[in-house]
Amino acid sequence: MEFSGLKTTVVGLWSVLLGILAITAGVRGQQTDEGNFISIDCGIPDGSSYTDDGTKITYTSDAQFIDAGVNHNISADRMTTSLPRQQSSLRSFPNGPRNCYTLKPVKQGQKYLIRAFFLHGKYDGNADVSIQFDLHLGVNLWKTMNISNTSLVDSTETMAIASADFVSVCLINKGHGTPFISSLELRPLKNTLYPAVNSTSSLVLSARRNFGKKDGTILRYPDDPKDRIWIPFRNDPFWSDISTTNEVDHEKDDPFEVPRTVLQAAAVPVNSNNLSFYWWAGSSDETRLTYHYFMHFAEIQDEHRTFNININGDFWYGPVTPLYRMSLTVYTTSAGNLYWYNISLLATASSTFPPSINAIEIYSVMLISANETNVQDVKAVMAIKEHYNVKRNWMGDPCAPIEYAWDGLDCNSNTNSDKPRIISLNLSSSGLTGDLIQEFAELKVIENLDLSYNNLTGSIPDFLAELSSLKVLNLTGNKFSGSIPSALLERNSTGSLILRVEVIGSTTCDIDNSCKMEKKKKKIAIPILAIVIVVLLGLLLVVVFIVCRMRRRQQGLVLGTAVRPQNENYFLQQVDHEDYPLQLENRRFAYMELQKITNNFNHIIGKGGFGSVFHGYLENGTQVAVKTRSQSSTQGTKEFLAEAKLLTRVHHKNLVSLVGYCKDGNYLALVYEYMSQGSLHDHLRGKPAYIKVLSWRERLQIALESAQGLEYLHTGCRPTIVHRDVKTSNILLNHNLEAKIADFGLSKAFQSDVHSHISTAVVGTPGYLDPEYYQTYQLNEKSDVYSFGVVLLELITGQPPLLPARGEGHIVQRVGPKVAQGNIDDVVDARLQGAYDVNSVWKTLDIALMCTAQSSVQRATMGDVVMQLKESLALQIAWNQHHYTETVDISLNSVFEIADVGKLSVVEGPSAR
Ligand SMILES: *[C@@H]1O[C@H](CO)[C@@H](O)[C@H](O)[C@H]1NC(C)=O
Ligand SMILES: *[C@@H]1O[C@H](CO)[C@@H](O)[C@H](O)[C@H]1NC(C)=O
Ligand SMILES: *[C@@H]1O[C@H](CO)[C@@H](O)[C@H](O)[C@H]1NC(C)=O
Ligand SMILES: *[C@@H]1O[C@H](CO)[C@@H](O)[C@H](O)[C@H]1NC(C)=O
Ligand SMILES: *[C@@H]1O[C@H](CO)[C@@H](O)[C@H](O)[C@H]1NC(C)=O
Ligand SMILES: *[C@@H]1O[C@H](CO)[C@@H](O)[C@H](O)[C@H]1NC(C)=O
Ligand SMILES: *[C@@H]1O[C@H](CO)[C@@H](O)[C@H](O)[C@H]1NC(C)=O
Repeated sequence: MEFSGLKTTVVGLWSVLLGILAITAGVRGQQTDEGNFISIDCGIPDGSSYTDDGTKITYTSDAQFIDAGVNHNISADRMTTSLPRQQSSLRSFPNGPRNCYTLKPVKQGQKYLIRAFFLHGKYDGNADVSIQFDLHLGVNLWKTMNISNTSLVDSTETMAIASADFVSVCLINKGHGTPFISSLELRPLKNTLYPAVNSTSSLVLSARRNFGKKDGTILRYPDDPKDRIWIPFRNDPFWSDISTTNEVDHEKDDPFEVPRTVLQAAAVPVNSNNLSFYWWAGSSDETRLTYHYFMHFAEIQDEHRTFNININGDFWYGPVTPLYRMSLTVYTTSAGNLYWYNISLLATASSTFPPSINAIEIYSVMLISANETNVQDVKAVMAIKEHYNVKRNWMGDPCAPIEYAWDGLDCNSNTNSDKPRIISLNLSSSGLTGDLIQEFAELKVIENLDLSYNNLTGSIPDFLAELSSLKVLNLTGNKFSGSIPSALLERNSTGSLILRVEVIGSTTCDIDNSCKMEKKKKKIAIPILAIVIVVLLGLLLVVVFIVCRMRRRQQGLVLGTAVRPQNENYFLQQVDHEDYPLQLENRRFAYMELQKITNNFNHIIGKGGFGSVFHGYLENGTQVAVKTRSQSSTQGTKEFLAEAKLLTRVHHKNLVSLVGYCKDGNYLALVYEYMSQGSLHDHLRGKPAYIKVLSWRERLQIALESAQGLEYLHTGCRPTIVHRDVKTSNILLNHNLEAKIADFGLSKAFQSDVHSHISTAVVGTPGYLDPEYYQTYQLNEKSDVYSFGVVLLELITGQPPLLPARGEGHIVQRVGPKVAQGNIDDVVDARLQGAYDVNSVWKTLDIALMCTAQSSVQRATMGDVVMQLKESLALQIAWNQHHYTETVDISLNSVFEIADVGKLSVVEGPSAR
């Protein structure tokens, strides 16, 4: 299983005692680290600051962190009393493709939590916006922000390791509106926290849910010294809350350090031994995310609870037995890449109480894949930027990504090290004044340094001569005094360096040995002086630090009100299996119910001629697909209802079953069982989500099962049903890859047994349509047989029926001649790599050609087809037994995906009823 790795952590009792002591002493704030928080309220007047009423955290203006952008206040009509102060102003970036905040001081190699908030608030007068921009952490994409509501606060949070002594957060203008930001927060984390965060992967928060909080308080600093924001989750009908005032604590080196308040309340199921919830983790195929999740437990009632954890119906971990007043976390150690996570905590037989859960955190993984500029070069060029106050696009990483590289700077990304390095720096006519600083000498691989036409003064330092790669040095147009270092002149004269310089003022020393000696002494003196200064500064910092900490201790406890980041576009939903299975036959749904079931038609999984198809959950957790009738559909209400009625009576394991229907006013919909593995079409061609190539055995199994479904329609139903649109996209697969025929509801039942055919307006799909239809305009069972033959040919060849782009004929015409030549290798899907029984394939080809005979009388019946396919399958099974055993457990290995859905796109909401 992808999510197989996990660990638990249990806390010793001693820490509980410690917690009580700490509370009694009133020094809880001691654990906190506010002194190292960076809290920026973007857009407030430069240099101003204030203390937040709720958190008592001091927010400062962004002036010292960025030198681009424009300050704005949000519109007065978007200012509400509950709006956090930080979100009432913002900084926007109308200019430049990339604008970055440089957050410092931070410690290189330390873990940090970084969080950004965004509220448009009509700052520019526009009430309707659709703004998209990227947020980068350093050189890596953190999140694409999509702002379409001017009164909602969006936020995003990440945990990452600082790769330098600053962290840059960049807003990238993608040409879809002006980027902006309301506030930015950085919080240090102990490096032992969140082990999934390392130098190559960061985490981006999807959800942090606090269960069992009846009062709906959002919890953050100072309750959580790390200032994580814990959003309360309630689900009243199915869950109830338990809480305690007793101390619950975590061990000192617990990797999560869940705050006490979170551990003191939990959710338990009402009338059930099963606590279930789920979230969509799906993303489009191109941007698939992987997820870590951390479930936090603590026994707070001194009861015996033991439970197993299932994910998507499969056992994942257990048994779990939280200890009294101790925190325990079950967490992933490797990220899962499922489309959908349905987590169930199931009490074991020995458990006397149902499971409880305190909190869950869900994160997607952000890989640190892009290469940042060499740290030494970055430090040097940042120091140069600051010393000379260079105002350009000098923000973020100097060299990467290449399209946002700093002006006047060239980088070499092909050096032996994988990190780009600065090889050229052009600061000509940039208004530099004062001495040349030592940091120029730290650009170790620089080849071209142009400092011409500035107001640089002082002597030309001879450390420049130590830059061994330097080929061009242009110092002309400055006001240097003194002499040119002899080493530079030497290199100029040997031609290894092109030197441009004219020295103004008196020459204080000639190019002789004594001069060189003197300068060498100076060179030694500088480092010593530097060391002394560093030591003194260090001492000063220590003193400041100690004073700060002492002051913080005196601040005492303040309870947080908090912001509610409204963009956390995920939901956790309770699922109760208690009264499963429901009797669903003939169930009629009201529109309101469908709204609930589909979470307001939020998750579209397909579109058909009939209308859109939505994913949903019944109240017992069963997944369903809701087909709605589009306004443009020609199908009449009466016809629709007749069909719905008919369909509730059609039951076969190889037909997608109808769970119920909806007729509410003009609104019509059908509710079907949900097929998690999508269509056969998707597996054969469509979707990269289905990485695994279907084996020949699986293809035969699918063929047989769909044939059985069709056979039932033709012979098992009274009146007989002709499907009329058999094709690979109407053959759906469930999580076990069991095939079921879909959309037969749109076929029309035979009106009576007297007529052996039906006729209506055109149906069917080009490529699958019975050729006789063009003469008779009638479809009958043999038309389905023809279409099924085309499906068989697709299964064999892996090719679509029509290849218009290649100008080749219909699949029957393509395959027929090759079969006649006995050339099977040319026919069979190359992706099978020869792993099939030749006789089995021949037999199936025969069946397919028998089905696709031009004349319907020559075609087999579905009953024949089923019998023949059984024989083909038997041949293949025998072949498999001799060649290898198919060990792949498809229910675990194939990805649980069906269609693309936005990332965690469903908003919070309980299931129906
Ligand atoms: C925003 O409002 C504050 C206080 O009302 C004011 O001091 C500040 O100048 C305003 N900022 C801008 C950019 O208008
Ligand atoms: C951005 O949000 C709007 C409104 O929610 C949505 O229609 C649009 O598809 C989103 N765009 C992206 C790229 O997610
Ligand atoms: C970071 O963690 C991931 C898995 O979480 C692991 O694959 C990777 O090797 C780790 N990288 C380092 C540098 O430890
Ligand atoms: C980063 O460096 C590694 C190692 O040289 C290289 O394989 C990788 O392609 C680089 N990544 C990028 C985005 O250039
Ligand atoms: C250099 O400084 C002088 C006086 O300090 C000033 O007049 C001149 O404009 C400056 N030149 C440049 C290029 O900055
Ligand atoms: C500085 O000198 C180099 C080498 O001759 C030359 O290529 C460059 O253009 C000069 N810079 C300016 C601003 O003239
Ligand atoms: C550097 O060498 C060139 C010729 O090789 C000479 O013309 C130039 O004056 C030298 N530059 C300096 C600053 O001595």
